[in-house]
Amino acid sequence: MPAYAVLGAQWGDEGKGKIIDVLARDADIVARFSGGNNAGHTVVNEDGEFSFHIIPCGVFWPQTMNIIGNGVVVDPDVLLDEIDSLANRGIDIKDRLVVSDRAHIIMPYHVALDILAENARGNGAIGTTGKGIGPTYADKAARTGIRAADLLDVESLLPRLEKILQHTNAVITNVYGGEPVSTQEVFDKCRQWSERLAPFIAPVERIVHNALKAKKNILLEGAQGALLDLDHGTYPFVTSSNPTVGGACIGLGMSPIHIAGITGVFKAYSTRVGGGPLPTELRDDTGETIRNLAQEFGVTTGRPRRVGWFDGVAARYSVEVNGYTSAILTRLDVLDRFDSVQLCTHYELDGNVIDEFPGGVAALERCKPIYEEIPGWDSPTASITEFEQLPQEARNYVERLQEVIGCRIDLISTGPHRDEAVEVRQIIEVASA
Ligand code: GDP
Ligand code: IMO
Ligand code: MG
Repeated sequence: MPAYAVLGAQWGDEGKGKIIDVLARDADIVARFSGGNNAGHTVVNEDGEFSFHIIPCGVFWPQTMNIIGNGVVVDPDVLLDEIDSLANRGIDIKDRLVVSDRAHIIMPYHVALDILAENARGNGAIGTTGKGIGPTYADKAARTGIRAADLLDVESLLPRLEKILQHTNAVITNVYGGEPVSTQEVFDKCRQWSERLAPFIAPVERIVHNALKAKKNILLEGAQGALLDLDHGTYPFVTSSNPTVGGACIGLGMSPIHIAGITGVFKAYSTRVGGGPLPTELRDDTGETIRNLAQEFGVTTGRPRRVGWFDGVAARYSVEVNGYTSAILTRLDVLDRFDSVQLCTHYELDGNVIDEFPGGVAALERCKPIYEEIPGWDSPTASITEFEQLPQEARNYVERLQEVIGCRIDLISTGPHRDEAVEVRQIIEVASA
């Protein structure tokens, strides 16, 4: 059996955590491949409600091995806290968690730099999560990063840290007027991390390779979303990694030949946290109503999420760059109380109707959505599990969405709980016993 990617198809927070928890029933491995603890993935099931930032959401199924790939950036304090708080709630993952030896470590100075750089951007702030993500990937590209494998040889780290902090502290103090970071304190932290993390650190690509050879199912858990992708998103208002499908291969050391399915998770409308264009944004009462109904507040930072109607132009772009073999629609129930819903099919840019997603952020800011009005439904979809039980108007919305994005919808989520979903078609192939 092969690998299946489950990717954020919009600006993040589409409900990937819930979907991974549903699909992991049929998985042997669940692997994160990009981003870090900027992610906030919510799972609601019989065990309660959980927020994950770094640990994959497959942990509730006891057969799953949970992997953090080389493409992920890891803050060891956050990872260790998450392991402990899961254990406190009765979920022991000590023998079911692996961290790639090639994963880069988020150091305290990365967090400091992230916050200082954001403050210095003033009005042009990206609205980062302040978790040190951008500076860690920047050090990775600059070849001055620290990797999990380095924690296994912790004594060799001191001279490297001295060199790195000479430069980084010069930036922190001279460019931003911040407080320098103590090399000794950072080194002491590395020593502590080394002790607790060592049992989890291993060459992930070998584990993945062997699992694929043994015909096991691997679920590739996306974080963020296509429109936050460093290359394909609304640059510079993006994250610093590649949440699109190519990132999964690089971020795990896996050949694309093993990917049997690529599923894009879309929510039934749009949200975005932080700065940058959101062409269908609702800055009115309707937006406020959706935000409050759906409790659209960030899992990682608690910030209110910006809300808008479904953006078909952005969605088609997401389909193109990822080549989704299927889509999943979440939060349909949030639209249960509207007389009608709007679906953006095209943009108007400088007087012209366009159907492609502009690459330039200035052009995207000038785009005005062109909407199609779809009649709302007067009976709720919440908790429904059979397609035929959905009200006809809700089915019409789903069908029109499929046409607009050009991709079939295989699963419809009708509530936050694991059991609240309509399976239209099976996404993961399971070997017959
Ligand atoms: P992720 O980052 O993609 O995993 O998504 P988040 O967890 O940040 O945000 C999704 C939110 O929607 C969470 O609060 C989920 O519990 C919730 N959720 C997921 N699917 C549904 C759904 O179908 N209906 C409703 N009402 N809530 C959902
Ligand atoms: P999940 O996995 C929504 C956004 C931030 C900011 C931009 C850059 O829960 O969908 P960063 O800290 O990555 O440098 O911030 O990206 N962002 C997210 N928005 N969901 C996420 O993750 C996000 N991860 C980063 O708000 O605009
Ligand atoms: Mg989230």
